[in-house]
Amino acid sequence: MATSNANAVPHHIAIVMDGNGRWATRRFLPRIAGHRQGVGALNRCVQACIARGVAVLTVFAFSSENWNRPAEEVSGLLELLGLSLAREVPSLKANGVQLHFVGDRQRLSEKFKAGLAQAEAATAGNERLILNVCFNYGGRWDVAQAARKLSAEGLEITELALDRAMALAHVPDPDLLIRTGGEMRISNFLLWQAAYSELHFSDKLWPDFDDAALDAAIEVFRTRERRFGQTSAQLGSDGKNSTQKAA
Ligand code: FPP
Repeated sequence: MATSNANAVPHHIAIVMDGNGRWATRRFLPRIAGHRQGVGALNRCVQACIARGVAVLTVFAFSSENWNRPAEEVSGLLELLGLSLAREVPSLKANGVQLHFVGDRQRLSEKFKAGLAQAEAATAGNERLILNVCFNYGGRWDVAQAARKLSAEGLEITELALDRAMALAHVPDPDLLIRTGGEMRISNFLLWQAAYSELHFSDKLWPDFDDAALDAAIEVFRTRERRFGQTSAQLGSDGKNSTQKAA
C-alpha cells in the first residue's frame, strides 16, 4: 500500500533520452555529434543518480524502430555504443555500476553480442546502481517475447508469470519515467512496466539534461500522490508518493 514520503528518492528512474538530433542540428553539426554528446549526458546522469541514492536507472538508447533511420545514423549509433563500452566500462565498474543490456540481440552481430556480454560480466558483482541500457528494445517486443517464453514452457499466461518473463524482471518497475526533448509520448518504451510510473516531460534536449534538471524531475515526483488504484482517503495523511511497487 502507498505511504506518505515527500522526501522520497525514486528507487528506479527510466529515461527516454530524446533530443540529440535537434541539439546537433541547431549547431549545424551531424546528428551523430548529438548522440556523442548524449553519451556525456548519460555519464553525468549516472553519477548524479549514484549521488542521490537512486538504485536503478533504465535508459532508452536504441529502439526496435530506430533501424528505420538513415543507414549512416544507425551505423554511427552502433559504433558509438561499441566505443562507449570500451571507454566507459572501467569507470562504470569502479563506480559500482551493474550494466544490463535489455532488448532483442538476435539481429546484432556475434562480435557486438560478445561485447555486450563482456561488459555485463565485467560489472556483474556491482551493487551501487543497476544501469539498464535498452538497446534494440521495444515495449511490444518485450510483451511478445515474454508470452512466447511462457507458451514454449507450456505455462499459463498470468500477469505474474508475464512479469517474471519480461526483460526487466531483475528490477522493480520504474517509479519515475522522464522524457527529455519536449515531446509527450511513450514511444514503445516500458509499456508493461510503466503502468504506475509517474511521468515527467522535460523541455531540455538530452545533451543539456543536467543535475539541476534531474533534481527538478525528482522534486516534481515528490509532489505526486501515488494511489496505485486506491483513493486519496485510503492512503491516509497527505498520501504523497511512495516508491513501493503497486500491490
Ligand atoms: C533520441 O534522440 C536518441 C536516440 C535515438 C539515441 C539515444 C542515444 C544516446 C543518448 C547515446 C547513448 C547511448 C549509448 C549507450 C551509445 P533523437 O535522435 O530522436 O533526437 P531528435 O528528436 O532531436 O531528432
